[in-house]
Amino acid sequence: MSVIDEVKQRTDIVAVISQYTALQKAGRTLRALCPFHNEKTPSFFVYPDRQSWHCFGACSTGGDVISFVMKKENMDFGEALRLLAERAGVVIPTRVDKDPDKDKKERLFLVNEAAAGYYHNEFLQSSAAENARQYAAKRGITPQTISDFQLGFAPNGWGMLLQHLLDKGFSEQEILDAGLAVASDDGKKHDRFRGKLMFPIRDDRKHVTGFGARVLDGSLPKYVNSPQTPVFEKSGTLYGIDLAVSAIRKQDLAVIVEGYMDVILAHQGGFANVIASMGTAITEKQVNVLKKYTGNLALALDADSAGEEAMLRCVTFENILDSELRVILLPEGKDPDEVIIENPGMWKELVSKAIPVLDYTFNTVAGTPPTTAHEKTAVARRLLPLISGIKEPVRRGHYFQKLARLTSTSERSLEDELTKLQSGRNAPSGKRETQISPSKSSFSNPREEFCLALLIRYPELKEQIECVLPEYFDTSENREIFLALKQGCSDVASLKDKLDEAVRDYVDGIARINIPEGRIEEKYNDCVLRLRKRFLQNIEMKKAEVLRSESETGGSAAELAKQEEQGIENTSKLLEVTQKISRG
Ligand code: UTP
Ligand code: MN
Repeated sequence: MSVIDEVKQRTDIVAVISQYTALQKAGRTLRALCPFHNEKTPSFFVYPDRQSWHCFGACSTGGDVISFVMKKENMDFGEALRLLAERAGVVIPTRVDKDPDKDKKERLFLVNEAAAGYYHNEFLQSSAAENARQYAAKRGITPQTISDFQLGFAPNGWGMLLQHLLDKGFSEQEILDAGLAVASDDGKKHDRFRGKLMFPIRDDRKHVTGFGARVLDGSLPKYVNSPQTPVFEKSGTLYGIDLAVSAIRKQDLAVIVEGYMDVILAHQGGFANVIASMGTAITEKQVNVLKKYTGNLALALDADSAGEEAMLRCVTFENILDSELRVILLPEGKDPDEVIIENPGMWKELVSKAIPVLDYTFNTVAGTPPTTAHEKTAVARRLLPLISGIKEPVRRGHYFQKLARLTSTSERSLEDELTKLQSGRNAPSGKRETQISPSKSSFSNPREEFCLALLIRYPELKEQIECVLPEYFDTSENREIFLALKQGCSDVASLKDKLDEAVRDYVDGIARINIPEGRIEEKYNDCVLRLRKRFLQNIEMKKAEVLRSESETGGSAAELAKQEEQGIENTSKLLEVTQKISRG
């Protein structure tokens, strides 16, 4: 349950609104003089069953408890939520935008950006970069790709970048902090990267966080990277993510390769959903970045990096993602870039034939089915800890059965074996895998959330956003997201930037909602129509409830007449929408 749901669940709208206006019981509703405008007869109603409110008078709007507090206290969503949370005793994570290092990080991004520009320019213009240009050409990299990835060349001098950046107004300390220069023992500063082919590394918000640098003379090590800095950490980095986000989202799949060249040539070949894990086994941090864009990951790793340790962690990642990880099996001894250059069709096929990580692990652990009792026990002992780590019960059952078949034992004896393993005595390292529970957002209004997901994924739909009213969204968090989208946030990152911290995980969840391909505009229009219908219906129902209780309690006739008049107008709108839906 999200904190927002928790706050709502622990809050009684009647208790909150009573603090602002005197509520009178009227049947199943409560009535009051509207706390938002001056009036003589009450047109403000509270619906305890739905935990909502509505003013049929001058405001002619309504919402949930959060939107009430927002309106009444003139607060933004986060402030209102925090006020209610405090009242309800719910702890909300603090805002991250109060990051004290934010300004410093911004400067590091700027100095990195300037360095990337400098290296790129050197690559294109300087005669010393001839070697680098030839190398790129030899690898089959086109000028367009060089510009897309802003490939660069670090000249072989000692202080050329340093001087360039100082001239641009960056301080020596900033240049050192970004890892672009190093100080030697005598205190002299010099450029870190010299005589190298440069790959600027950007995060999913397009900030340059660091660099990869490849030798051009066959010496070792082949690559050096920026050191760890406040904005760069190798293990959390995904090379190419800045250029891959939209393709990952569109295809609902991210393909993870190892190297810079693999990413570059994949994109050049038209496979833009490819990113690199920087040569290391994939980490939880990387999974969490990708999770914002898709639940489906496929690893194109060479056989030896798909070691058991990596496999072990894969189950944890699957639990985080709430879906399966797949493995793309490459032809012996080939890197993805080679496959793609030689035969793009083959790459496509390999990706489509990716197999679940666990099936792959089964194959490696028990390539030839175990026959002796001893072999069977060994296989069971290696696979059981993985299988028992799977959170999703159906999948866990599936692999339990698979292992039972493979070892021709009953699932019962496997369970016994597992208990034995878990009791610790026989556990190899005694270390049990810690399970990370995916912070699942609960969707309470699937249609509202689907509409938002469409707007997030297909920003072009926003041309038709004017006909959608914020009031079509019942929950104030969805209303917030809608308003932010309407105000022009066109990607998840900027959307989250705009929204309160408490809504951000929830936005990630929405951005991941599965949208079947094709006829997007039709889906959107249909969704909007249905939201509109529900909105009008809701008003009808609320009004009906009011009318009923008014007549029961002898409410004012003038008010009744006014509402009835609005009711007619409303009914004809509703009829219109209903007809449109049934025609569509
Ligand atoms: P590889 O050694 O497979 O290099 O390392 P590659 O990508 O095939 O390089 P090319 O094709 O010869 O140019 C894969 C990745 O591991 C990281 C880099 O990110 C590299 O792309 N790596 C490798 C390092 O960080 N340091 C190294 O010394 C080697
Ligand atoms: Mn390679």
